[in-house]
Amino acid sequence: MQKSNYNWKHVVTGTVALIGLVGVLVGIGGAQPAEQDFKTIAKLIVGPDAGADNCANCHTQETAVWKETHHYSTFGLRHNTQRAKDILACLKQAGVEQNRRMKAPKADNMCLQCHYTTAMEGTRPKVSWGISCESCHGPGKNWLAIHQPTERKPDGGVIGMNESRTFESPEGRKARLDGAAAKGMIHSQMIYRIAKNCYSCHTVPNEQLVNAGTHRAGSDFDLVAWSQGEIRHNFVSSPGAPKNPTNAPVTKERLRQLYLVGALVDLEVSLCNLMGVKEKGDTFHRAMIGRVNRARAKVDAIVEKVGMPQLAAILASLPDPVTEDTMIQAVPSELGAFARNVSEDTGLAAIDDLIPKSSEYRGTVYGK
Ligand code: HEC
Ligand code: HEC
Ligand code: HEC
Ligand code: HEC
Repeated sequence: MQKSNYNWKHVVTGTVALIGLVGVLVGIGGAQPAEQDFKTIAKLIVGPDAGADNCANCHTQETAVWKETHHYSTFGLRHNTQRAKDILACLKQAGVEQNRRMKAPKADNMCLQCHYTTAMEGTRPKVSWGISCESCHGPGKNWLAIHQPTERKPDGGVIGMNESRTFESPEGRKARLDGAAAKGMIHSQMIYRIAKNCYSCHTVPNEQLVNAGTHRAGSDFDLVAWSQGEIRHNFVSSPGAPKNPTNAPVTKERLRQLYLVGALVDLEVSLCNLMGVKEKGDTFHRAMIGRVNRARAKVDAIVEKVGMPQLAAILASLPDPVTEDTMIQAVPSELGAFARNVSEDTGLAAIDDLIPKSSEYRGTVYGK
């Protein structure tokens, strides 16, 4: 077991300043964040359902969905499982202590990066929830006050919850969301950034945790399959809003966008993870090779159906397939740039039979 100071600098690309909660903690790539980093983020956490101005105050329906997810229940369950204790014991045995306390998952800086949300309680950071709204939408303190509609309804009233699609102008909505994004919000149009967050946790980019700790090296995470089951909470944009908002399925166009962006981000993040590998041939290395090749095959299949010469050219610059001997020097920035620009209007109708069917969605859709 190598105990060198990990050099994960490659993940710290130009985008790091824009990355939200997970980006700050995990995107920097598995290096242990110092106590101070947790505090910086904890200070920006509003919290889903505690304290003043929390998300649940206004977003009652989204909160009800969240409370039925594994992201919520992990807080009360995961730390007590034998598997969690075994992982900690393996890490300890391998001497992976660094600046962690290694007592229990909720007191271990490594587990905190992906399993928990930490908020301030008085002057101290406190592990308070599992994966929460702000894990995906960005820590809220700086954008909370400006993320709601500011225009007025014809009767002069405030545009309230689920009313934006009826009363807000497209320009007003864009200006509002742009303003919030500039303050760190990851809103529903920022699919690339949302996906980056999912994959930063779900590829488990932490070599020590996987090799020494025996933590699983991610899973068959697919953005469509994993976001459209238990995670789905589309009330605001549902056809019945504002009077009868339901947890609506996303549109066909949106589904296609999610599928392509998910595959591209999987490829991008997995290549980054592969580039940082220190222990050649070990579990993490093999898992990331498999991930890169699977994500590549998904993207290739999409390109075959749709064309997209620009994307094909980017892919041509990447080794295929990746093997144990492949050296990744850099992940082309064009890959992320391309993924950012995929929109609901990118003509993707030809890929429908590649997209996971609703029977493959992960978990039960709330309200079904
Ligand atoms: C880099 C992100 C990340 C870190 C760090 C992390 N986990 Fe996980 N963990 C995950 C994800 C993602 C899953 C869900 C796996 C999946 O995708 O199915 C998970 C699942 C688990 C599971 C259930 C799966 C199983 O094998 O039974 C346990 C137990 C677990 N983690 C323990 C821990 C412990 C203990 C720590 C700290 C030492 C830790 N994790 C740190 C991301 C992480
Ligand atoms: C004081 C009330 C209030 C609070 C507190 C609040 N929100 Fe909102 N939020 C709104 C309103 C109103 C909208 C616009 C709803 C609509 O589009 O009809 C909105 C919209 C959103 C959107 C959708 C933006 C988009 O992409 O269209 C997200 C995401 C969001 N809020 C997340 C949060 C999170 C996370 C928190 C807690 C950190 C939070 N909100 C706290 C009132 C609130
Ligand atoms: C901050 C890290 C983090 C982020 C961001 C994140 N997840 Fe997770 N997710 C986890 C962890 C950890 C678990 C496992 C919880 C457990 O069981 O202990 C998990 C579990 C899940 C599960 C339940 C899997 C099961 O056991 O059936 C789904 C579904 C899921 N995540 C989807 C998503 C999607 C979709 C996104 C992005 C939109 C996302 N996650 C973003 C960390 C994260
Ligand atoms: C696992 C990551 C994740 C978590 C946790 C999460 N969201 Fe979201 N949220 C998303 C994604 C992804 C979308 C975009 C879905 C789409 O339009 O396809 C979204 C969309 C939204 C929207 C807009 C929905 C619409 O109809 O356009 C609101 C409002 C929102 N989230 C609020 C919240 C609140 C409040 C919480 C906490 C109670 C929360 N979210 C927790 C990932 C997450």
